[in-house]
Amino acid sequence: MSERTPDPFGLALWSTHSGQPADVILECRNGAVFTDQSQKYFSSRITPPVKKSLDFLHGKVLDIGCGPGRFALYAQALGYQVDAVDSSWLATCVAKERGVHHTIWSDIWAYLRESEECMITPYDTVLMLGNNLSLLGGLKEGRERLRLLHRVTSERAFVIGDCVNPDCLDPTFLHSSHRSFPRAVLTARLRFLKETSSYIRLMFYTEDEFARLVKGTGWEIHARFHTKHRDTTYVLQKT
Ligand SMILES: C[S@@+](CC[C@H](N)C(=O)[O-])C[C@H]1O[C@@H](n2cnc3c(N)ncnc32)[C@H](O)[C@@H]1O
Repeated sequence: MSERTPDPFGLALWSTHSGQPADVILECRNGAVFTDQSQKYFSSRITPPVKKSLDFLHGKVLDIGCGPGRFALYAQALGYQVDAVDSSWLATCVAKERGVHHTIWSDIWAYLRESEECMITPYDTVLMLGNNLSLLGGLKEGRERLRLLHRVTSERAFVIGDCVNPDCLDPTFLHSSHRSFPRAVLTARLRFLKETSSYIRLMFYTEDEFARLVKGTGWEIHARFHTKHRDTTYVLQKT
């Protein structure tokens, strides 16, 4: 990863932060195209289900894939110490400019694997909001990642994260296969101005799939909150 790795998402965040609201284009492998407005990641309006899940915030907080930092800022305003991690260099720059005290530019899994041996104070709350549960990946990888989160967190830790319900997504954009886990996967590359990322895979778990993913990882689903539309926000606690 270098500062010159194409970073269309970060560039769009930077543009929006500088007063020119920007849309990122997502080009799916099957040719379908849609846009994602970066403005929403700056909103301080938090939906009621996410707000309820944030009642579980405590102690030292890790914000995974912080983007421009809306949840890190929320936790900081409540007095919590937050490590805000993002693999987009420009996202961490925007988060810092917006007042997030401690940003880390890294792939989250690399950061946790490198720091788990020397971590003095474990995390008490892990945030994976903004559909970031998707970053867990498939079944095997996702379980390994949940076990890694188990090792870097305190006894009374919570993971707070959300996921878009795949049944409410336009199937044109998804690979859906009954043989894959999860069933619904979106493979797309991001484009903004002249920058294009490599293909990324976003996972959309049904509630049954998510329960299956969590099983046997040392975590259990403690609470679940739904929006009227399509997201499920989960609070995981240690078993
Ligand atoms: C959909 S945005 C959500 C941002 C923020 N959580 C929010 O809701 O406003 C996803 C963020 O995760 C970051 N990201 C994606 N993969 C990552 C990884 N492996 N490690 C760290 N950050 C990652 C992206 O750069 C992006 O900023």
